[in-house]
Amino acid sequence: MRILAYHVQPYEEKAFLKWSKENNIEVVLEKGLLTLDSVEKAKGFDGVTTQQVIPVKDEEIFKKLKEYGVGQISSRTAGVDMFGLDMAKEYGIAITNVPRYSPNAIAELAVSHAMHLLRNVKRIEKAMSVGDFSWNKDLISREIRSCTVGIVGTGRIGLTAGTLFKGLGANIIGYDKFRNPDADGVLEYKDTLEELLKEADIISLHLPLVDDTYHLINKDNIKIMKDDAIVVNTGRGALVNIDDIIEALESGKLAGAGLDVLECETLYVNQKVGLEKIKGTVVEKLMGMDNVVLTGHFAFFTETAVDNLVSISLDNIKKSIETGKLHNCTNM
Ligand code: NAI
Repeated sequence: MRILAYHVQPYEEKAFLKWSKENNIEVVLEKGLLTLDSVEKAKGFDGVTTQQVIPVKDEEIFKKLKEYGVGQISSRTAGVDMFGLDMAKEYGIAITNVPRYSPNAIAELAVSHAMHLLRNVKRIEKAMSVGDFSWNKDLISREIRSCTVGIVGTGRIGLTAGTLFKGLGANIIGYDKFRNPDADGVLEYKDTLEELLKEADIISLHLPLVDDTYHLINKDNIKIMKDDAIVVNTGRGALVNIDDIIEALESGKLAGAGLDVLECETLYVNQKVGLEKIKGTVVEKLMGMDNVVLTGHFAFFTETAVDNLVSISLDNIKKSIETGKLHNCTNM
């Protein structure tokens, strides 16, 4: 069995080599994306994997893969919106994914952002950088055990975040369209989002981006939040209306925002774009605010998560070829 891995990043190489050695299967690492120009490289391989946001929606790609006898594209991602799923189905190419690779990776960054903001770390660093080490009354902070954390979306990541916050002593409440039976003993469910927003000191978002979650947090419901609430978003950028968040941060309604994702993030995520590219954008604005912690979609980026993404995607290919059954298949 031979596998071709497209768009391999330097941080993934170690995980590929480890899996290849452990399974005694040849995996050829290719830096380039899976495109119409590069699909021919898949000739002679039994399976392919890729990890890319650039769309794979060209009919010719699926046609060629079928011709080469490759029946599956194993994506090293949770989401598969970059693939033309209907087209893949038409040509009998299964698209498989890694739905769960490390909820802790994302949940830990949510906790970290919340704690940073709660303890005024950015403000303290800023004052210290100009030689002001005083215990300014504006820098006194709340302790997490005196806070109520509202988890919006209590699936894999949300429930893990709730468990971690609870371990630090916070009171946890949750809201979800479909309640998670495993949440018993971790959080108390609220019947509506509004109820949660009224009671939470820290609001942590862990929802998928779908039609009814687009700009879920906006000026209409920010006004019902507690004064000095903190909003943490490690879900998807467009879960919040960022202009409304900025307005609330500037007016003092919100005490802070911890943002790993932004609606405009394709502008900069995983690229060395330079500061000129973000000049005058919301990204520059947020980076300059001392009540904002901004990271460029780094929540998933841990050794454990990358190792799992690589090994589970390769396992999906191996199991499919060995058993003739598809694993984590999203379109068949
Ligand atoms: P999940 O599917 O386990 O949980 C999502 C939860 O949201 C479910 O319990 C679902 O019932 C709930 N939900 C969906 N629509 C809702 C609505 N309209 N109102 C209330 N609840 C609703 O998903 P998981 O694995 O916990 O991931 C959550 C999100 O985290 C993903 O959709 C993704 O956007 C984001 N994510 C971010 C990463 C990062 O690096 N920043 C990495 C991985 C995921």
